[in-house]
Amino acid sequence: MKRNLLLIFTALALLAAGCCKQKPVENIIKTPVPTRPAGQQNVLGLTAEPIETVHIGVVGLGMRGSEAVRRLVQIPGAEIVALCDLLPDRVESSQQFISKKGKPVPAGAYSGEQESWRGLCEQADVDLVYICTDWLNHYPIAMYAMECGKHVAIEVPAALDMDQIWGLINQSEKTRKHCMMLENCIYDFFEMTTLEMAQRGLFGEIIHVEGAYCHNLDPFWDEYWNNWRLDYNQKVRGDVYPTHGIGPVCQVLDIHRGDRMTTLVSMDTKSFNGAKIAANHTGMEVREFANGDETSTLIRTEKGKTILIEHDVMTPRPYSRMYQVVGTDGYASKYPIGQYCLRVDKPADQVDARHISDEKVYEGEEMRALQEGYRNVILTPEFEALAKSVGGHGGMDFIMDYRLVYCLHHGLPLDMDVYDLAEWCCVAPLSRVSLEHGSMPVEVPDFTRGAWNQVDGFHYALAK
Ligand SMILES: NC(=O)c1ccc[n+]([C@@H]2O[C@H](COP(=O)([O-])OP(=O)(O)OC[C@H]3O[C@@H](n4cnc5c(N)ncnc54)[C@H](O)[C@@H]3O)[C@@H](O)[C@H]2O)c1
Repeated sequence: MKRNLLLIFTALALLAAGCCKQKPVENIIKTPVPTRPAGQQNVLGLTAEPIETVHIGVVGLGMRGSEAVRRLVQIPGAEIVALCDLLPDRVESSQQFISKKGKPVPAGAYSGEQESWRGLCEQADVDLVYICTDWLNHYPIAMYAMECGKHVAIEVPAALDMDQIWGLINQSEKTRKHCMMLENCIYDFFEMTTLEMAQRGLFGEIIHVEGAYCHNLDPFWDEYWNNWRLDYNQKVRGDVYPTHGIGPVCQVLDIHRGDRMTTLVSMDTKSFNGAKIAANHTGMEVREFANGDETSTLIRTEKGKTILIEHDVMTPRPYSRMYQVVGTDGYASKYPIGQYCLRVDKPADQVDARHISDEKVYEGEEMRALQEGYRNVILTPEFEALAKSVGGHGGMDFIMDYRLVYCLHHGLPLDMDVYDLAEWCCVAPLSRVSLEHGSMPVEVPDFTRGAWNQVDGFHYALAK
């Protein structure tokens, strides 16, 4: 009897232990990769015939597009030859601006119809279609522009879902036209200098990075044409504006130039402020608001690194793109405070465990002195001064436009290709998938379809 009881207890104990033991399960949501159409090749390192004067058509002349016009007229080797906006008065005011600057008034002027931009894309002398409309219009304009044989530059985020992302990749691969997203934040001064530091090994091996778009948009909601931005946030869950945060940190990690993102998981708060903001804005009762006030996404890479991306446009949290870079031997942080920290190798008898941290911290003047030793190769003091004088988010927008025109003029690969666009935009649709499945991991596809390890690190192309 006793022996039988012992056997029963042992069996029950083993059963209980078996139940509690974690079993590996297939817990990742697969993301389909469409087969590359026959005869099509990747566009890594894509070059095109050099263009003497880059003729630009700008579509969308709201807050961002009118600023782009202001900058582009100051870029050597560029000429705006066509303008388009749904609203005729916006085309007129950009024409007037260009004329006041003493530049030729663009021959092409398109407005009034939802698809007036077709005329601009068809205009024979346009080399580059520069798209600054609301998000929903980016994709059809970019697709048609490439079909018409034009290079395209598209404001952020260039694409909203996986179909659009693959559509742009296929169109760029098929037409051999550049398809670049206008991600300006890779050209900010701290980011460019820190990239140089990382590439020269100052931080050891980079293992973790963080980026964000925390920007209280209260003062802006009323300014967008037709309320497009608040509407989109009301309808769509997930990190809908990831590219300012992820772009600069992906460059540091050499994404699709030696490493690639493989998996992401996302979590969001419920919408605490969104519905209230929408109700105040529209004067109507708003019961549902899809976008959480705060969305966080964690991404893992093939080489075992991690990326944290946040989105918050609904709270008074101070503006931040985070930009934190963690290496085996050092650390860089742009927000909330600009600083670098480097490991100090001290003899064992000088190490004092009572100090909370023992690394060397560089802030203020010391930080600036350190940065001077790591000037980014494209950022000469004269060019930096010019960019700051023209401005556009402190100068980074000018550097972005200048580089785009410079590379087209010299027939060089652009700083950002269509795979960067894909990787930085995919956080929106894939974070949504994760959120809708209880934060399950979601596979991040290899948008190069097999070539993510062919290019050896990120480099700027320079004319000989
Ligand atoms: N990179 C950055 O720092 C940054 C900053 C702000 C905005 N943006 C991006 O720039 C884009 C525009 O934003 P915004 O703030 O200028 O918005 P906005 O609402 O001020 O401007 C949008 C413009 O698009 C026009 N438009 C709408 N439908 C059109 C159509 N069918 N054809 C032609 N024109 C059309 C509207 O009339 C309007 O003038 C967005 O993609 C936004 O995310 C980027």
